[in-house]
Amino acid sequence: MPEIQENISLKSYNTFGIEAKAKYFVVFKSVEELKRILRNPEYLNEKRLFLGGGSNVLLLNDFEGLVLKNEIKGIESVFENEENAILKVGGGEVWHEFVLDTIEKQLSGLENLSLIPGTVGAAPMQNIGAYGVEIKDVFVSLEALNLETLEVVFFDREKCAFGYRESFFKHEGKGKYVILNVNFELSKKPAFNVSYGAIKDTLTEMGVTELSSKSISDAVIAIRKSKLPDPAEIGNSGSFFKNPEISKTLFEKVKAEFPNIPSYPIDENTVKVPAGWLIEQAAWKGKRFGDIGVHDKQALVLVNYGEGKGQEIADLAKEIAFSVLQKFGIEIKPEVNFIS
Ligand code: EPU
Repeated sequence: MPEIQENISLKSYNTFGIEAKAKYFVVFKSVEELKRILRNPEYLNEKRLFLGGGSNVLLLNDFEGLVLKNEIKGIESVFENEENAILKVGGGEVWHEFVLDTIEKQLSGLENLSLIPGTVGAAPMQNIGAYGVEIKDVFVSLEALNLETLEVVFFDREKCAFGYRESFFKHEGKGKYVILNVNFELSKKPAFNVSYGAIKDTLTEMGVTELSSKSISDAVIAIRKSKLPDPAEIGNSGSFFKNPEISKTLFEKVKAEFPNIPSYPIDENTVKVPAGWLIEQAAWKGKRFGDIGVHDKQALVLVNYGEGKGQEIADLAKEIAFSVLQKFGIEIKPEVNFIS
């Protein structure tokens, strides 16, 4: 039985660097360990919080329950032919370390998703994505533990119901499963995605003439480092809000007043607009209030400069969303999970 610790600071377990205590805290390294913890009668009635890398949570206060940290490791090749390889990866593996491992093995598919904080097990929950690629593009299947029955359940891509920063695990499956391992299909004959303009520009600046997983990964890392704060230096949780998808009718109305608004078509009737642009236009970019603020290079990112509190960040987010609604009539919603 893994040791259950009491009254543990979660500051180093959330990338926002927010000081909050867990009543109980435990690490599990296998599904057997996890089941043993979940069956322990002493903790049956405690509320639970599963943590991966803590990169998508906002801790509003101390957590009066049991925090369980997934450290199920392992990267294993389960299928290989001349074109592809399927890797089975433990949910507790650190995402970026896994990406670097695939690049070293000269497999392609994940290079655009370099340097995203968090763990492999958390990645499918919100279908992480960046620079034109989403995890669903290379996803095969996963296994998750049903927290009620303690059975291991298999999920294929369809069952995961992936959408933009969405999945089954954020809706019907919310709070009901822990992702144990994920299978990814990666390519030995790469079809690189450099559709995102900044990647091409950065590759040119870097003097790269021949594309490789490594060169694209290096370009993505350079772009992320130039725009996004490093959580080791300034607490943050990446994009705090999702980019809103709005009706074409509303978009045309807003565009008439703000002709420079950037947009990406989703379908005939829907348009996605960057929340970072909306927040910048509402004059929040770079604003600091005590120990919290809005990042000066990317307005979509809220930051904790040191002793910021989760509730302060939540209040700021509410104010930002309200001012965007007032200015543009567009609702922006957090991507980050609020934990209380
Ligand atoms: N923009 C501004 N001001 C800002 C920020 C952005 O005007 O302060 C404008 C940019 O000029 C650009 C547009 O907004 O026209 C889009 O900006 P960017 O390419 O930086 O991407 P994003 O839409 O802000 C999304 C993801 C990021 C991902 C990037 C690149 C979401 C919520 N965020 O950001 O993901 O890295 O695209 O693909 O979809 C994350 O989820 O944590 C994350 C960082």
